[in-house]
Amino acid sequence: MASLKGKVATPRGIDGEKEQQMELFPECKIPTRGMFITFEGGEGTGKSTQIKLLSDYLHSIQINNIQTKEPGGTEVGLELRKLLVTGDKDKFDAVAEALLYYADRRIHLTTKVWPALKDKTWVLSDRFADSTVAYQYYGYDKRVDRKLLDELYTVAVGDFKPDLTILLDLDPKIGLERSFKKAMGMQTKETRHESRGLKFHTNLRKGYLEIAKSEPERFVVLDANKSIERLHMDIVQLVKERFKL
Ligand SMILES: Nc1ncnc2c1ncn2[C@@H]1O[C@H](COP(=O)(O)OP(=O)(O)OP(=O)(O)O)[C@@H](O)[C@H]1O
Ligand SMILES: [Mg+2]
Repeated sequence: MASLKGKVATPRGIDGEKEQQMELFPECKIPTRGMFITFEGGEGTGKSTQIKLLSDYLHSIQINNIQTKEPGGTEVGLELRKLLVTGDKDKFDAVAEALLYYADRRIHLTTKVWPALKDKTWVLSDRFADSTVAYQYYGYDKRVDRKLLDELYTVAVGDFKPDLTILLDLDPKIGLERSFKKAMGMQTKETRHESRGLKFHTNLRKGYLEIAKSEPERFVVLDANKSIERLHMDIVQLVKERFKL
């Protein structure tokens, strides 16, 4: 597939095209900004738990930060989230899913993440683009064209990347058990992905580890079977070292 980058129609020639790219990706204009940290991992690995603890820690040392999530970090995104994480697991295929996740991501970036970063606020996101590769590519046994996902990233996100991605790695049997227990307590209907078989979740875990290996400077993989407190201490240590706090 030909690259879509720079193919935005413009009557303004080369310079006009560059200008238009800047408008599409306002993060290019940010000279100093907050840090963007993403949490990744399968179901029930502890992302939401750890993101909250890290946010509280950062606040305690006077670092402004927001917690957000994908899908559903914005009002419109919540509508997309409802479509994506509830109902029959086969109601649409992986390509349609990836497109919907990218619509959510683009709205999330332009209306919430980039404005916050520009304001020097740190953004802690429960999932980001690695989830799309892990779920829609690896989870589905590589039946989706990987290049399509990379092109979607370029179109919607540009050159922007998280400053740090924490991957919580866990045996999916343990993660799913935690998730189902939590879902029962909350009577949530957000179990569309959980309802996929163990094979999907085993692929997902392997996929995440492969993605992490391909970008070792961005990723840190943590053993999510440790206690909540132990993991939090490891994450604080990691963030202090990485960002020289
Ligand atoms: N390290 C841990 N050890 C044991 N239980 C944990 C641990 N971390 C989280 N839990 C529990 O497991 C459940 C799932 O945790 P959490 O909601 O943080 O995971 P998640 O990765 O956000 O899940 P989901 O993908 O479903 O959103 C919660 O009930 C939480 O209290
Ligand atoms: Mg969660």
